[in-house]
Amino acid sequence: MLLNLTILGGDGIGPEVTEQAVAVLQTIADLFGHQLQLQHKPIGGAALTAANDPLPPDTVEACLSSGAVLLGAVGNPAFDQNPSHLRPEAGLLRLRRELGAYANLRPAVFFPALEDCSPLRGEVVRSTDIMIVRELLGGAYFGQPRSIAGAAGARVAINTMRYGEDEIERIARVAFDLAMKRKKKVLSVDKANVLECSRLWREVVTRMGKEYPEVKLGHQYVDSAAMLLVQRPTDFDVVLTENMFGDILSDQAGGVVGSLGLLASASIGGKVGLYEPVHGSAPDIAGKGIANPLGAILSAAMLLRHSFALEREAVAIESAISAVLARGARTADLAGKAHKAISTAEMGRRVVQAVKERL
Ligand code: IPM
Ligand code: MG
Repeated sequence: MLLNLTILGGDGIGPEVTEQAVAVLQTIADLFGHQLQLQHKPIGGAALTAANDPLPPDTVEACLSSGAVLLGAVGNPAFDQNPSHLRPEAGLLRLRRELGAYANLRPAVFFPALEDCSPLRGEVVRSTDIMIVRELLGGAYFGQPRSIAGAAGARVAINTMRYGEDEIERIARVAFDLAMKRKKKVLSVDKANVLECSRLWREVVTRMGKEYPEVKLGHQYVDSAAMLLVQRPTDFDVVLTENMFGDILSDQAGGVVGSLGLLASASIGGKVGLYEPVHGSAPDIAGKGIANPLGAILSAAMLLRHSFALEREAVAIESAISAVLARGARTADLAGKAHKAISTAEMGRRVVQAVKERL
């Protein structure tokens, strides 16, 4: 099969972790007889520096004409004072929109080898396997109007949280369909005691739930869901939620399973799938070669699964990662006191090696 990908390294640790994910994809392509064809393009701060545009038209064209997009991270404090549309993050948000990627899947799976990495006791976190389904193109991230205006000292900022029934329906369908292939549980997370958006959300999700009688549907306010996520993470199966709540809860889920550096994501539903680790650009450790590439590598596995239906190949990557972790490989975020930390590149090499050995 031709794996025609656009690679967007982006900012901070983005290029470093993406490089390792590409190396693993190359190994998979060689072993399984696929052809990897790559196009590298700028996004985020890197694109702002080069072209004063966080998402140059050429990058969009490349993404739209490829089979899938693999992204590292965007974000650079150097642009913190820029207006919204000239921030690195604006590039990512526009890309999600251009691709029509409304469904953001963020699995948070506990690796048995990493029991010492979670701040939670083993008996609480063991066997955690959560799929966060985050709506990605609506809510406060995109709602209009939005502004900061007024005289100095008396400025007012406005954001609009907005959801249409059709947007809620299509993301709910993704969550229910996924639940049917898992433990048949959906927890819909909202703030229906306060927000109109959430009241509509809950109504539509409840209605949709009737089409899936086998799925056990629950509702939880986001504050309470945040507490339950650390108290009883194993109770969760599919979590269905709006854009901003999903952003927050997915970082929290990363903490629960031991490190945000482990979390991968798939943004699908549109013309072309976009795959990226959940962690950000981590400017404080960029360029040091110590970032955890596993979130990026697991995103590459999701890319194979969701954009190319290459399940065996995706599983080969995931098993390789379990194996290297079981053998004690740890990047700095996972090392703790008991392990010696290895570099980003070394972790990548070990995954490549494990992929080769297991076939
Ligand atoms: C994420 C990130 C992004 C988001 C930022 C970088 C715009 O935090 O993918 O979780 O908020 O969606
Ligand atoms: Mg986030």
